[in-house]
Amino acid sequence: MAKYQYETVEVTLENGIAWTLLNRPAKRNAMNPKLHFEMDELLGRMSTDPEVKVVVIGGKGGHFSAGMDLKEFFREQEGNPEAQRKSSEAGHRWRWERLSEYPKPTIAMVEGYCVGGGFTQMIGCDFAIAARNAKFALSEVNWGIIPGGLVAKIFADTVLPRHALYHACMGEVFDGVEAERIGLINKAVPAASLRKTVRELAQKLMLKSPNALRATKHAVRHVRSMSVPDAYSYLMAQYLVVGVGDTEDSYNSGIRQFLDEKSFKPAHGPFRLKGARAKTVKKTKPRTAARRK
Ligand code: COA
Repeated sequence: MAKYQYETVEVTLENGIAWTLLNRPAKRNAMNPKLHFEMDELLGRMSTDPEVKVVVIGGKGGHFSAGMDLKEFFREQEGNPEAQRKSSEAGHRWRWERLSEYPKPTIAMVEGYCVGGGFTQMIGCDFAIAARNAKFALSEVNWGIIPGGLVAKIFADTVLPRHALYHACMGEVFDGVEAERIGLINKAVPAASLRKTVRELAQKLMLKSPNALRATKHAVRHVRSMSVPDAYSYLMAQYLVVGVGDTEDSYNSGIRQFLDEKSFKPAHGPFRLKGARAKTVKKTKPRTAARRK
């Protein structure tokens, strides 16, 4: 039996990667209240699951998400402020509070439509890879609301101001290539190699010290809104935090493997984690003056 069983989300664990797919394909993975509650609980559970090293967020049926469910989230909750409050809070919590502060690396895998409120979990993830023919749209202006929740804010924080205004005001569909060009995603790839590209990124992330990676991603996100003196003080403190509860003893392992064991070059990749197989270092014969003659 699958470890994580939900009605609106499907999770497959594969060698440390939790492929987490919104599962309402008939509704283009529009997010109803149930999905928000399930994702909120699921992300909480996976954050402490040692089998989960990287979380990938995507959608079943060829689409990332058509955003908030206009029927079940909006219309059917009208006149019920208590239900609205609960589902809004859960939706905000999993898509932004949990994802943007997640203790493990997260990757958005975007294919098909990514619309409106779907931008929140896409930007909430640390990385975003999309199919070249993915279809992004801030549709809110087209049906009479603003990109609310946090959408306008995090979109404007991610891309340059002209792009933010254009896409928020026009609500046009743009593809993965354009999303990469404006800095909304890391990379657009052919649809056929989307999963492979995401898997390769996840595998690279899993080779790094989890503590160093966690502190780094939190640092990069948090310093954006700080003054320079505040950022300096925060980063000095975070520098110490990396070592707290670090089963890899990252700082010492990294320095030892570089200076003493000479087994890796930090500029070319991460130090070897405990339990990882040692790389066979190819020995090349030194070129001596005698040999060159
Ligand atoms: N909320 C509720 N239902 C939605 C939905 C949404 N956001 N997006 C799609 N659906 C439903 C449709 O109503 C339809 O349901 P039905 O089969 O019961 O009629 C089903 O999903 C398939 O949608 P359809 O429009 O037929 O698919 P499509 O592939 O032709 O178009 C979209 C896909 C995403 C372009 C289109 O559905 C759309 O514009 N959806 C609204 C997206 C939006 O504005 N989201 C922002 C909310 S913040």
